[in-house]
Amino acid sequence: MSCLFALSGKGGVGKTTLAGLFVRGLREIGRKPILAIDADPNSCLADMLGVRVRFTIGSARETVRDEAEAQKISKQELLRMKIAQGLVESNGFDLISMGRPEGPGCYCYANNVLKSAIKELSDQYPYVVLDNEAGLENLSRRIVQSVDVLTLVSDASNAGMNTLERLYGLAREMGVGFRKLVLLVNRTRGGELPESAARVQKNTGARNMLALPYDEEIATLAEESRPVWDVSDENPIYRKILELVRETSG
Ligand SMILES: Nc1ncnc2c1ncn2[C@@H]1O[C@H](COP(=O)(O)OP(=O)(O)O)[C@@H](O)[C@H]1O
Ligand SMILES: [Mg+2]
Repeated sequence: MSCLFALSGKGGVGKTTLAGLFVRGLREIGRKPILAIDADPNSCLADMLGVRVRFTIGSARETVRDEAEAQKISKQELLRMKIAQGLVESNGFDLISMGRPEGPGCYCYANNVLKSAIKELSDQYPYVVLDNEAGLENLSRRIVQSVDVLTLVSDASNAGMNTLERLYGLAREMGVGFRKLVLLVNRTRGGELPESAARVQKNTGARNMLALPYDEEIATLAEESRPVWDVSDENPIYRKILELVRETSG
């Protein structure tokens, strides 16, 4: 059984950056090999981790039925092959990129096949970090059903804090199972939790709720397209994430 970290939250709150730091933190404390799953088509976890994706498996969803018939192999087998082709191997971690999201058509059937193929792949790694697109759709329908550490990320605004509660409610409603809930309030001024944090923590029952400060080094990382490996060991956000993964991955 692997330990799966899933990051969710609105677009632009820092999920991909933090997912990259989770991978770095896990690797740093020897909790590896890690599978990083990029499930956000709008940002790129691969860039954050400094690796190149040759092949995303998102498009396979639409063609797998026809291709499998033409090649006279099972759909499951074909997807397994595609995933193997798309897997990028690096030092201490591998990465798979889901590619583009669902189109207007319904690929429910292929999604189920994909889901079980991803599960099969994930089961081969003791640690998995899943960077989601905004919302919880991936968690409920597309990729995984159950996570160990559900990490909801927000900014410090009132709307952001309400979103945390809403996401928590959605996760419960959708039957997303999780062992631990972590709330990260990112890009705060001075690293302080906002006043409404206590209410959100109480209503969600989250044991961990952390304020991460606005940080110049992290901000320039994206501006200069540099990977998380370039962040200094003393970076305050990295230190907090390191502590968090140490505490929650045991
Ligand atoms: N703590 C922080 N301090 C400063 N900038 C941050 C911080 N966290 C994230 N950012 C910046 O915010 C932007 C959005 O981050 P990103 O990780 O892409 O968010 P998401 O994946 O949620 O869309 C990026 O430019 C990133 O560098
Ligand atoms: Mg992202």
